Amino acid sequence: MNSEQTNLQAALFGLGLDRAAPAPLHQQLTEALRQMILSGRAAPGTRLPASRQLARDLSVSRQTTLTALDQLLAEGYLETRPGAGTYVARDLPHLAPPPAPAPIATPTAPIPARPFHPGAPDMAQFPHAVWARHLDRAWRRPAPELLALPDPFGWPPLRAAIAAHLAAWRGLDRPGAQVMITSGATETFELLARALFRPGDSVLVESPGYGPMRSALTRAGLAITRMAVDDDGAILPDGARARGVIVTPSRHYPMGMTLPLARRLALIDWARRTNAWVIEDDYDSEFRYTGAPLPPLAALDAERVIYVGSFSKLLSPALRLGYAVLPQALLAPLRAALAETGPRASLIPQPALASFMESGEFATHLRRMRRLYGQRQAVLRAALARALPDHLIAAPDPAGMHLLCRPGPALEQVPDTEIAAIARDAGITLRALSAYWPDGDGPQGLVLGYAGFEPEALEAAVLRLADVLKARYP
Ligand SMILES: Cc1ncc(COP(=O)(O)O)c(C=O)c1O
Repeated sequence: MNSEQTNLQAALFGLGLDRAAPAPLHQQLTEALRQMILSGRAAPGTRLPASRQLARDLSVSRQTTLTALDQLLAEGYLETRPGAGTYVARDLPHLAPPPAPAPIATPTAPIPARPFHPGAPDMAQFPHAVWARHLDRAWRRPAPELLALPDPFGWPPLRAAIAAHLAAWRGLDRPGAQVMITSGATETFELLARALFRPGDSVLVESPGYGPMRSALTRAGLAITRMAVDDDGAILPDGARARGVIVTPSRHYPMGMTLPLARRLALIDWARRTNAWVIEDDYDSEFRYTGAPLPPLAALDAERVIYVGSFSKLLSPALRLGYAVLPQALLAPLRAALAETGPRASLIPQPALASFMESGEFATHLRRMRRLYGQRQAVLRAALARALPDHLIAAPDPAGMHLLCRPGPALEQVPDTEIAAIARDAGITLRALSAYWPDGDGPQGLVLGYAGFEPEALEAAVLRLADVLKARYP
C-alpha cells in the first residue's frame, strides 16, 4: 500500500457518519468521498479499499458502501480497473482550493446614539414594565385566534385600536377594516409602489425628502420626479404629469413646515383630475407642542389619499410596526400585493400593542413624551441662544423631534458639511441640511435631534460644540 492509499484509508476510517441524521448513510458516505476527492485529500489514481473492507471499517452494511461507490463511479469521480479494484479517477483536473473567506467581525452591540442624532425616540422612556404586562397577558395563555393563520392585514383588534387612535388624535374617521398593519412606513411604501403603480410610472416626491421612501420607489422601478419645497412645503409643478405623489403635509421632512390648506386642496384637486394617488406620510405629528395640527389630507378625500403611519417614532423603531389607512378600492389590490411577499410585520407585538392602546396607556405615554420632548426642545433652543448666538440660529418649530438651525453671521461663509465634520470629530452628530438634497446642493443649515437625549446631555453637547466652533470661527 503506498502512502496515499494509507492516508486515504486513515481518513476514511475517521469519517463520522451520523446514524441520527436525516440523510441516509450511503448519501453521507457519497458526499464525504466526493469532498475528499474535490479537496485533493484523495489524489487522482489512489486506490480505494474494497467495498467489503470499507463496510467493516465504517461499521455499515456492504450495500451502503456499494451504493456510494456506484454513485461516484456514475458521476466520474471513481473508475474501476478490471480485476484491480476501484480508484480515484486519474484524469480529474486539479481544483484550486477556494480562496479563504474574509474574516467576519463578530457583531457588537450598537453604539448608543449621541447628541444630536435626529429622529430616534428616547428608549430609556419606553414603558417597559407596562409593555411587559401586555405582552405577558397576550401570550402566556394566547387566545385561540392568535394561534390561527394570521390575517395578512394584521391583528384585527390592533387595526381597530389604530382607527380609534386616529379618530381621537388626528380627526381621521375610518373603520379598522381599512387599516393594514405593516413592518413600518418603509414596507408600506414598497407595498403601495407595487400595488398602485407599474414599473416606469412617474411619482412626485418632495425634495428634500425621506431617503428610504425614495429607495423603495426606485426598487419598484418607478420614475421619481422631484418637487421643490418653499417655506410652506411642497410645490406642485404646473401641469404635473404623474401617477401619484408622496408628501409629508403635517410636518415636512426634514424642514418641518406644515402644508397650508390651499396647497392641500390643490393637491387633492390635481389628483382627482388626473386620476392620481396621494400618499400622505404622517410620521410624527402627535409630537406637536403648540397649536392644533391641521387634520390629515386623508380627511379631505377618503378615496384618493392613502394615509401612512408608523410606531417607529411614537413608541420604538425596534417594534417594526407601521400601518396604512387605505381607500376602500385599494383593499383588494393591497391584499394581493401582500400575498406576494407574505406579511412581514410580526404578530408577536400586535396583541400587546392593541391592549396597550385600548387601555389608554399609549395615549398617556404619548402625552408624557410630548411634554418631555417639548421641554427638551426648549432646553436646546435656550442652550444654543446662550452659547452660540452668532453661530447657530434655531428656526421656530412648534413640533417634531429635531431643530433646524441656520448658520449665524460667524458661520455664514462656512459650508454646513464642514461644520458637521468638525462636530463629528468632537463626538457630536450634526446633519448638514444641504446633504438632504440629491446633489448636496440644498440651502445651508444644520439638523439637531433633541428628543432622544436628557436635558443635561443636550446642554453638555452644546457647550462642547461651542468650544470647537468658536475655536475655529470666533
Ligand atoms: C419621513 C419619515 N417617514 C417615515 C418614517 C418611519 O419609517 P419606518 O416606519 O419604516 O421606521 C420615518 C422615520 O422614522 C421618517 O423620518
